[in-house]
Amino acid sequence: MRIGVGWRLYLFLLPLLFFLPYLLSVLELHKNSIVEDLPKKNRKKFDHLVLGPAAGQGLPNRLQCQGIKALNKTHFSASSHVASVGDRISFVTVFTIYNTSLDINADGRAINLLSVGNASYSKTERSMAILNVFINFIEVTMPLSDVIILTDPASDLSVHRKGVTIYPIEGEYSRERLMLQRIRSYITFLERKLEEHSQGRRHINHYIFTDSDIAVVDDLGHIFQNHPNFHLALTFRNNKDQPLNSGFIAVRGTPDGILRTKVFLQEVLSIYGSKYMNASRMLGDQLALAWVVKSHASFDTRRFTKAQAFVEEIGGASVLFLPCATYNWTPPEGAGQFHGMPLDVKVVHFKGSRKRLMLESWNFLSSSNLSDMLCLILASGRTKYDF
Ligand SMILES: *[C@@H]1O[C@H](CO)[C@@H](O)[C@H](O)[C@H]1NC(C)=O
Ligand SMILES: *[C@@H]1O[C@H](CO)[C@@H](O)[C@H](O)[C@H]1NC(C)=O
Ligand SMILES: *[C@@H]1O[C@H](CO)[C@@H](O)[C@H](O)[C@H]1NC(C)=O
Ligand SMILES: *[C@@H]1O[C@H](CO)[C@@H](O)[C@H](O)[C@H]1NC(C)=O
Ligand SMILES: *[C@@H]1O[C@H](CO)[C@@H](O)[C@H](O)[C@H]1NC(C)=O
Repeated sequence: MRIGVGWRLYLFLLPLLFFLPYLLSVLELHKNSIVEDLPKKNRKKFDHLVLGPAAGQGLPNRLQCQGIKALNKTHFSASSHVASVGDRISFVTVFTIYNTSLDINADGRAINLLSVGNASYSKTERSMAILNVFINFIEVTMPLSDVIILTDPASDLSVHRKGVTIYPIEGEYSRERLMLQRIRSYITFLERKLEEHSQGRRHINHYIFTDSDIAVVDDLGHIFQNHPNFHLALTFRNNKDQPLNSGFIAVRGTPDGILRTKVFLQEVLSIYGSKYMNASRMLGDQLALAWVVKSHASFDTRRFTKAQAFVEEIGGASVLFLPCATYNWTPPEGAGQFHGMPLDVKVVHFKGSRKRLMLESWNFLSSSNLSDMLCLILASGRTKYDF
């Protein structure tokens, strides 16, 4: 498969998008600059929540809101939530922080502070706050799950929380190579899990690799129960150039599931290295992922046009394709690709400059419920925030 003109244009635009000057955390750095661009007048970035009209009002099966009051009860709620029975699920994210010395000036004073709610954050602290909120949401919606943070052994990362494991993996975590290293770290992690199985480990533990700028707003255990035959799951959207998002990869924790996912990711890594190194800083993994899937002879890309889960064999692996609208929903910019928020949304992804909205949403949740919080996200999703 060739790289189309659209891609080339996209690659030239990439340098404009580098907005995190030195933080090397894997937040979602992918931005749909072409398909989702805001009109020029709306480019201002806000340091406070800005509510606008909620998308999808009047559409069936989309969350209806009155201001930030939800008119529909989404099928979950923080208090009545029951975790699904079944195998354990671990969330795995790559996260590293370097050089916190850049947070203070020569006099030892903190610089670049931003406030969210009562708290004031340096750049490093913002990144850590996002990681913490990521973990908070999982604690609420999937209390039986744990979080594994893959990180550079040299990284200055300390997280002391119940259910959180720091898992150092050697590698090259420089900013330029981070997305590449992330796949490598996933592969190394899976290799270690395979070893554990070969040494007699019996219990099944599923894994969901995600970016850390996501909020899990519903239990995800049903993915593994309702679709018993997949090895790995990816999220897709109806976007010709970027049909797959790399921010969510679910792996069935059987030896077979782990092995085939590992082989699949090795193929993605090799395509990344041979075709998309120029894009290594941000988009390379998604381009490589899409290449591996689309290059498969029998694959019909028209299946991406309908937001419905399907399974396809790709290079020996059974791949479950899950619609982004439900499993990787992004607050809309411009017209918005999802036409509002599905009532069954399970994962909200705060890509690009929507991180403030993620922190504000968590703060809001403490005095409200999930349905109302989703209205807050929906209503302020079209705004670009300052981080
Ligand atoms: C939660 O949201 C539902 C749906 O809008 C609403 O009816 C209910 O009053 C809310 N509950 C609380 C405790 O805020
Ligand atoms: C959501 O709420 C709106 C307004 O109350 C209502 O008209 C609609 O039927 C509800 N949708 C569902 C699927 O319950
Ligand atoms: C951290 O940043 C400071 C200021 O730019 C620089 O002098 C120092 O070498 C950096 N340290 C590391 C370990 O990169
Ligand atoms: C801000 O501080 C006040 C007083 O300590 C507290 O009641 C409130 O919950 C805090 N708000 C947030 C968003 O943390
Ligand atoms: C990729 O990088 C190589 C070497 O720097 C360069 O020659 C080539 O034009 C670049 N390709 C794209 C698509 O930017």
